[in-house]
Amino acid sequence: MAGMRFSPEESPEANQHLQLPQQQLQTGREVASDDDRSVAADSWSIKSDYGSTLDDEQRHADAAEALSSAANFRPASDYSSDKDEPDAETSMLGLQSYWDAAYLDELANFREHGHAGEIWFGTDVMDTVISWTKSLCTDVSQGHIPNHGGEPKPQSVEQDEKYLSCWSVLDIGTGNGLLLQELSKQGFTDLTGTDYSEGAIDLAQSLADRDGFSNIKFLVDDILETKLDRQFQLVMDKGTLDAIGLHPDGPIKRIMYWDSVSKLLAPGGILVITSCNHTKDELVQEVENFNQRNIAISQEPSATKDQETHRDHPPFQYLNHVRTYPTFMFGGSVGSRVATVAFLRN
Ligand SMILES: C[S@@+](CC[C@H](N)C(=O)[O-])C[C@H]1O[C@@H](n2cnc3c(N)ncnc32)[C@H](O)[C@@H]1O
Repeated sequence: MAGMRFSPEESPEANQHLQLPQQQLQTGREVASDDDRSVAADSWSIKSDYGSTLDDEQRHADAAEALSSAANFRPASDYSSDKDEPDAETSMLGLQSYWDAAYLDELANFREHGHAGEIWFGTDVMDTVISWTKSLCTDVSQGHIPNHGGEPKPQSVEQDEKYLSCWSVLDIGTGNGLLLQELSKQGFTDLTGTDYSEGAIDLAQSLADRDGFSNIKFLVDDILETKLDRQFQLVMDKGTLDAIGLHPDGPIKRIMYWDSVSKLLAPGGILVITSCNHTKDELVQEVENFNQRNIAISQEPSATKDQETHRDHPPFQYLNHVRTYPTFMFGGSVGSRVATVAFLRN
C-alpha cells in the first residue's frame, strides 16, 4: 500500500539485505514510487519504530550496505529531477523532492500509527552520539580541550546540567527531531532544529508536542541558503552532509555547507558530525581543504576584514572523534562504518 510503513517486527524486509532500487524513475516531481523510496531509505538507514531495536549485526550490515549502495546507485539515464541529473556517486537521497515525499509518508504514518519514523544509523549510534557529545561539552565547559593534555575533573549531575544549559544547539537536517529530544533529556535547554523539508519540520514539531518537548524550536531552513541570523555553540549533523553530498552538485554543495556552518557556529563552538559515507580521516581532510581554501582567500588583496581573520586562524580545528564504534579490517586498514567527528570553530 502506498506510503504504508511497518514496525521492524512487522516489516517484510526488516531482516533482508537491502539494495537500492535500479528501476526506472519517473520524471517530474514524483521521482520514484512509494515502494522504491521506502526501499531506498531502508538501505541507508535502520527502519525502526522509535524505542524498538534491531540487533547490532543487522544494523552494521545495513550500514555497510548503505555505504556501497548509496555511493553506487545509478539512476536511469532519462531521469529528470526537480534540479539536476544524478550520476555515479549520487542518488535520490541528494534531492529535496526525495525527502519531501519521504516525510509525507512519515507524517501519514505518524498520524495513523503514531510512529516516529527513521532513526538514521540506528538507536545505538544515536545513543553513542548523545552521550559522547554530552561529555565533550561538559569537558569543554571546564576548559578541557580533548587531545590537549590533562583530564577533566569529575563533576556532579547538577554541575553538568548547569554547564549544558549554557550550550545553544542547532541540529541541521533534523528530520524527525529525535536527536534534539534526546539532547533535551540530557540537560541541553536551548535547542533548535532545521530541515529544508517542510514535512520533516511538521513531523518533528508533532513529535515534540506529543512527547512534551515544547522547549525545542523547529523551522524550515536550507543549510546551504540559511536564513538563520544567530550563532550556536553546538551544531549537530547526523546524516545531513551525507545527503547533501549525494546531490549531483555534491562537491560544490559540500563547500557551501562548510561555509554556512562556519558562519552559524560561534567562535569556540563545536560541530559534531556523524557520517556513514565518509571516514573520520576523510572528514578531517575535507575540513583541512576548507581551511586551506580560506587561508588562500585571506591572502588575496581583495580579502574582506572577515576573510583576513583566517590568515592566522583557519575556521575549523579537529577536536576528537568517537572511538567506540565497532571496527572491521578491509584491505589491511582498520575502519568503522559510521564516523562521528567533532570540530572546534576557531
Ligand atoms: C539522512 S537524513 C537525517 C535526518 C536526521 N538528522 C536524523 O539523524 O534522523 C538527512 C536529512 O537532511 C535533510 N537535508 C538534506 N539536505 C538539506 C539541506 N540542504 N538543508 C537542510 N536539511 C537538509 C533531509 O531533509 C533529511 O531530513
